[in-house]
Formats: sequence, C-alpha cells, structure tokens
Amino acid sequence: MVDPAARMSELRDLLHFHGYRYYVLSSPLITDAEYDALYNELVELEKAHPDLITPDSPTQRSGNDLSEEFAKVRHVAPILSLANGYSVEDVRAWEERTLKLLPSGTILSYTLEPKLDGLTVVLTYENGVLVQAATRGNGEVGDDVTPNIRTIRTVPLRIPAHANGMTAPERLVVRGEVMYLKRDFEALNARQIEAGLPPFINARNAASGALKQKDSRITASRPLTAYVYQVVASSGIMLDKQWDMLEYLGNMGFLIAPGAAYYPTLEQIEAEIPKWEANRDALDYEIDGVVIKVNDLRIAAELGVVGKDPRGALAYKFPAREGSTKLLRAVFTVGRTGRVIPNAQLEPVFIGGITVSNATLHNFDYVKALDVRVGDTVVVKRMGDVIPNVVGVIAGARTGSETAITPPEHCPYCDTRIVHPEDAVDYYCPNVRCPERVYRQVEFFVSRGALDIDGLGAQTVKTLIEKGFISDEADLFDLAEKRDQLLELEGFAEKKVDKLLTGIQAAKERPLARVITALGIEGVGSTIAADLAVHFGSLDAIQNASAEELNEVEGIGEVLAGGIRAWFDDPFHSGIVGKLRERGVNMQGAPRERAGDSLEGKTFVLTGTLPTLTREQATDLIESHGGKVVSSVSKKTSFVLMGDSPGSKAEKAAKLSVPILSEADFRALLGIE
Ligand code: IVH
Repeated sequence: MVDPAARMSELRDLLHFHGYRYYVLSSPLITDAEYDALYNELVELEKAHPDLITPDSPTQRSGNDLSEEFAKVRHVAPILSLANGYSVEDVRAWEERTLKLLPSGTILSYTLEPKLDGLTVVLTYENGVLVQAATRGNGEVGDDVTPNIRTIRTVPLRIPAHANGMTAPERLVVRGEVMYLKRDFEALNARQIEAGLPPFINARNAASGALKQKDSRITASRPLTAYVYQVVASSGIMLDKQWDMLEYLGNMGFLIAPGAAYYPTLEQIEAEIPKWEANRDALDYEIDGVVIKVNDLRIAAELGVVGKDPRGALAYKFPAREGSTKLLRAVFTVGRTGRVIPNAQLEPVFIGGITVSNATLHNFDYVKALDVRVGDTVVVKRMGDVIPNVVGVIAGARTGSETAITPPEHCPYCDTRIVHPEDAVDYYCPNVRCPERVYRQVEFFVSRGALDIDGLGAQTVKTLIEKGFISDEADLFDLAEKRDQLLELEGFAEKKVDKLLTGIQAAKERPLARVITALGIEGVGSTIAADLAVHFGSLDAIQNASAEELNEVEGIGEVLAGGIRAWFDDPFHSGIVGKLRERGVNMQGAPRERAGDSLEGKTFVLTGTLPTLTREQATDLIESHGGKVVSSVSKKTSFVLMGDSPGSKAEKAAKLSVPILSEADFRALLGIE
C-alpha cells in the first residue's frame, strides 16, 4: 500500500514540473490528458485526506488562462468548474450524495448536455446588446476578448437575434464554449500544412490560439463557433429550470448545446450516455463527455458548491483519445495507385480502450510540417475505427539522436525506384505490376463499393496473388477454369471455392457505374463513375472520349479529365480493360426503366448518410424519375439531398440558396412511402 502522503508529494512535484514545461516553457513533455490524469489523482487523494492538502498544491490554484496583453474583467459570479465521473457507478453515487443533502422525498430530474471540448467564454448583454466577452481566467477574473468574440458569427451581437416578440432583460450574463467545428479545424490544419506550418495538435488548442489573438482580424479569419449552456447572472428572468433556460437561450438567438435534452430520471440518462459515446465521431464538434445537470435551478443553487464544482452537476468524461508514445520506426505502405504513405510504428500505447502500435503520418508534406522524426515522443490521436493519427511532436522530449523521416528511394515491395512527380505532394511507386499495388487494386476491385464480390476477403486475395493464380484483377474471371487447382490450396474447401466462383460469375453483370468505379482510376469515385456511365452509356465510349469530351461531364474538371484520359492511355490499364471485356464483364449502361418523369431536368447532389436509402438507391430513384445526380453543388443544382454528417456540400448549398431536402422531403417529392 502506497503511503498517500508520499504519493501526494510526488504528484505535486510532477504537476509543478509539467505545469512549468507547459505554461512557462511552452514545451510540454506529456499530453493534456496525461496531465489531467495526474491532477485528478491528486484531487482524489486530497478529497480522501483533506488534512494533507498543502498550500502549494497545484489544486489550490485554479486554472488560469490570463494573459498580460488583455484587459482584465472581474466576473459577476465565480465561473465554476465541474466534478468528473467516469462510470455509471460514479453517476449513481453522485445522485445518492445529492439526495442526501435534500429533504427526504425530493425527486430530481435532469438535463443531459454534450460536454463541448472548447474554451469557456462569458458573454454580457446589456439591454440586449453584447457589451463584453471574457475568458474564464482564474474563475474570478478573466481576459477581455470582446473584439475577438464579436468576430464569431454564432455569437449574437444583439438579443433577441430575431424580432420574435421577446425582450431581452436589462442584463444577461451567459456562459458558453468557443470551439472549432471539426470540418473547420480540418480545413485550418490543411491550410497550415499547405503553408509548411505545423498543424495544431487539436481543435481546442487551435481555438485557444484564435481567441488569444491581439489582432481580432486574425480571429475573424478563423471560423470559430460558440455554443451557450448556462446563465451566470440575469436581471428579471423568472425561469427556474435548466431546460427552460436552454430553451429561452435558444429563443434569444444563441446556439445552444446541440442535442441537449431533458430526462425525468437518472435511468434514462444512463441509457443515453453510451449512445453519446458511440455517436461521438459522427458529431460535427468534439466532445469529451456529457454533462448531467439537476434541472431544478433552485435546488441546484441550494446544493451549493464544493471547491470549484457545483454539486448540482456532473461531467461524465469519456476516455481520452490522445496519448503520447515513442515513434520507433517509419514504414511505408504503397496504395493501389502507387502512392507511398508514411506510417509510424509506435511503442504500444493504450488509448481510449485499445492498444495502438501503428499510426498514419498521411504524406511527406505532413511529415515536414510536423517535423516529426524517428525517436520522437509523439502525440497520437485515435478516432473511432479509423487508423490512429500522429498529430503532434513533443519537441521538449528530444535528445538529439532523432533522425529525419525521408521518402524511400526504392519501393519496399518491388524495389522499383520511387518517383516524385513535379508539383505533386506524394511519392509513387511507378511499377503497375508491383505486387503490393496489384494486391491493393484487386482488394479494391472486389470491395463493396466496387464489384462487391462475395467470398473474396483480403487474405484470399493475397493467397491468390502469392500462389500465382492472378496477376491482375481481370485474372479473377479465369479462376473458374482453375477450380481443381484452387481446391488443392490450403483452406480452399469445395464450399468456399464454389461460393467464390459464383460470386465472380455474378460480378460480370454489375451495372456500368460499378465497373467504372472498380477500375480504380484516381479521382473517380462512385459519384463520378455514375456521372460517366450516364453521360457516355458504355465503357467503350468513355475509353474513346477525348479529355475535352470528358471535361464536359458535370463535376469533371480539366485535371480529372486529363487524368482519366491518361489512365486509359496507359497500356497496362487498357490491357486490363481489354481482358475484362473479353471475359464478359458488363460494359454497357442499362437503359433505365422509367418510373416517371417528375424529376425531368432536375439535378441532385447527395451528401451525408440517409436514414434508410443507400447512395445507390437514391441515385436510382432520381434517375428513374428523369433526374440527374451530379457530384458538386453549383447555382444550377436543383436540390441537395442531405443525410447525417453531411460534408461541405451542405454548406455550399446553403450559401448558394440551393434547397436542401431530407430523405422524408425527397420521398414526399416523389410521392413514395
Ligand atoms: S456547465 C457551473 N455545461 O466543461 C457550470 N460546462 O469541465 C459549469 N463545458 O469549464 C459548466 N460543455 O468549459 C457546462 N454543457 C456544458 C458544457 C460545459 C462544456 C465545459 C466548461 C467547463 C468544463 C468543465
């Protein structure tokens, strides 16, 4: 059993050291999440042993984001923090503790809100006009960042933002969170990398940087978003429920914490939490947990505060998605187009529930912008199922023995000299017969979005290539003649082989758009493939089209048109197309059965995931009613059909005033159930 006094002293030392590295030297050795873990451990020990709290404990100094360069603002009420919970047990214990402090028989109900991962701002409105905006600072005094906050379009400069019959109180002080939407953050980092600058490690750091600009024109160029979730002080608002308050704030024109909801019982909250966690990646914004709040604000006020944390609310924190570890080696993968992708092999690190030992470094521009080297301690971020990312380097941990990551001179799979086309970001293995390229291409050819051949997983593809059964994707269609030899392969039982051969046979009949997609031409995804299929009607016509003719298809620019032309001109590719043709793969666009012509002359753009229809089904419906699906939004687009997690197309549609339809609207338009 560790002596708590000794551990507490050790934690204080560690926190002082890492705090100094972070705040004074701006050269941290550990991630924010690791720092928080140490901090939380100390908080817990101090709760258990209040007599061992020392005045120099880092917990005795509340967070401070004060900067000498800004005027100071004294907050009208302390800007509090939140106690954390990490499990259902913590949530139940919190309710139990709360109920014990209240008259017996009290029944509590709650709001559940996302815990937005940004920076607190405190906004003061006088007679409906924004007069001041401040950071949290140390909770008592913050930095005056009014000019910067004014640049944020989601912060109303006047409330109510729309004349709606409501009047603003004489004074209203609200609290909210300033942050980057994920897509804005990604765009920002893409610009940083393009300019050869290091990308920001995470959206929160980037938002903090934007908010602390002395020149608000710089803040204005950074598209921040602000959500509001609390009233700090007000004159004359009679609402006494958090849920009513959120509704009120929404009516005043604030963007309120999206997805916030009222629940009469804690059981319901418990059922909702895993949904938030599972859905975390699909949201437009980063959350690091959810916040449970006692709905009755009078009760919440009575419950009071312990330390800096109001008793009437609890932050349920999700596991951190970031960790730091050592980059042991750089390895290079080669994709189907020959593109070389640098990857980091890592000392295994446990992040958010899984062990991570590989992460992508994207491309060599990214490597250069990050200045990441072998031997570095790196920050790794993991999101959902995607490959983890190296997002930053802890430069302070360098010893001098780190070595640069440079593109390989030869392909690690076929030893061909790697090429770097002028003006291209990427490096390529130019050998179209490179076994790794063939493997990746065949894997893509048979995948769900392409020819969707049943029974052909990655391992089977690998075996078929290794054993010499296929040397390109067209060879798949010769396998039927080699049934006996296939049966001799280890793990290729009769049932499996027959399933495979049936699947391959069936794939010959796939619609033209899918065949085009499966070819794997760079830049030709399923939407462009469908556009090509509709426009030209057959693969022969596409193959014979000039770059100018290809350029006539909506959504195909000059560069892509040239790329498609060059692809067909490559003898290796035209050879494959020839083989596919000989083996009876469909090369004709089927004349469509017409279900009606109500969409005649209308063009649609699809974005996001629709609740029930797949992309293909929606396209089919549109086309069978005489409409057209194109890949990018322009003023000429008739409708944007939008599902969940839409991309930038939705934004563009809004900008160009193109009507946006949900699946339900779309069904109504076609008069289908
Ligand atoms: S309520 C007394 N609600 O989380 C009220 N905070 O870990 C305390 N945060 O500093 C805040 N989303 O910056 C509240 N829906 C939400 C929130 C939220 C994010 C942040 C806030 C706070 C931090 C505490």
